[in-house]
Amino acid sequence: MGGISGPGLHVAGPGSDTLFAMLETLKTIRDEGLAELQAAATPQDLEAWRIAYLGGKGKLKAAMSGMKDVSPAEKPAVGKTMNEVKTALESAFKAKQGGGGEAKQAGRAKGPIPDVTVPGFPSPLGRSHIITRTINEMIEVFARMGFDVAEGPEVEDEDHNFIKLNIPEEHPARDPLDNFYLDRDTLLRTQTSTVQIRVMEKTQPPIKVVAPGRVYRPDEVDATHSFMFHQIEGLYVDHNVTMADLKTALFQFAKAYFGPESEIRLRPSFFPFTEPSAELDMKMAIKGVMQWVELGGCGVVDPNVFTHVGYDPEEWSGYAFGLGVERIAMAKYGIPDIRLLYENDLRFLRQL
Ligand code: FA5
Repeated sequence: MGGISGPGLHVAGPGSDTLFAMLETLKTIRDEGLAELQAAATPQDLEAWRIAYLGGKGKLKAAMSGMKDVSPAEKPAVGKTMNEVKTALESAFKAKQGGGGEAKQAGRAKGPIPDVTVPGFPSPLGRSHIITRTINEMIEVFARMGFDVAEGPEVEDEDHNFIKLNIPEEHPARDPLDNFYLDRDTLLRTQTSTVQIRVMEKTQPPIKVVAPGRVYRPDEVDATHSFMFHQIEGLYVDHNVTMADLKTALFQFAKAYFGPESEIRLRPSFFPFTEPSAELDMKMAIKGVMQWVELGGCGVVDPNVFTHVGYDPEEWSGYAFGLGVERIAMAKYGIPDIRLLYENDLRFLRQL
């Protein structure tokens, strides 16, 4: 990320909390000082203002005492801003004292002449949320492996969320209590696997895409579960694609993203739209205890899914996977609880 910059201020790196607090204090002193000076009407008011802002025990002097807490690297920037504020207040005071700030010509607005040379104050730079960053990083790794990016809607119909994914009417996953239905046939998608169907409906193989996005489930919230979370779906369709290709792709991704020393495993599982199916697990610390955490599901695309989108299952084969982005971010950045990702606590977010 770039540093902080603004007229008269350049700080390498994102800047510390102390730096931002000092700059905020100085900005307040400058803004309030100029406003109060403008309101000063009598010589007594002016003198009281001078003592309050520029005096030996004034606000500016008090702010200067905070310099001892500023790191050596950030001291020059704070010192420069401090001088700028002092100069701005002193020249506004002199102008007001000498009556120079009053509009003397007919037709001009009353009040001190604004000093257009006073430097502006930098605002702390925002940055991408850790989930956005994780999605972008994952896409980057998959792009190196030849995957394009696809998208699909968050409000879905049963056709794409269930039927074409080989999830029949009586399947427990379709229980209204396990889904956020908007009306009889419309729901918030529960998985990004819907995008597999949407891509295959409008594209002929070969296909190699990843599809990131939000999904919604009325799951009970705990350290690893949220009712809204993100997944990245992967779909590869071509001739002669096998489970070995899937395993290679997921292990390549995991080793590239988490590092060669990361502990991952594939565990047999079941999904209606893949056969065989598996779960990708990774060992990570949750609340200080090392344990296997499920990162995503995967498998070889079930021939019924190909039939539903008009592909010949005799000709085409493929694999698919759906990874939980929050779990990946937790593994990558050592985040012990998924809820930290949504509380918007700046003390947590600034650490990442
Ligand atoms: C699925 O959603 C399948 N669509 C994955 C898939 C895609 C399988 C393609 C085969 C082929 P599952 O329900 O297991 O699978 O969710 C996938 C991942 O999402 C989980 O491994 C987990 O990392 C994450 N996840 C699931 N529920 C939650 C939740 N409530 N909060 C946070 N992450 C969750």
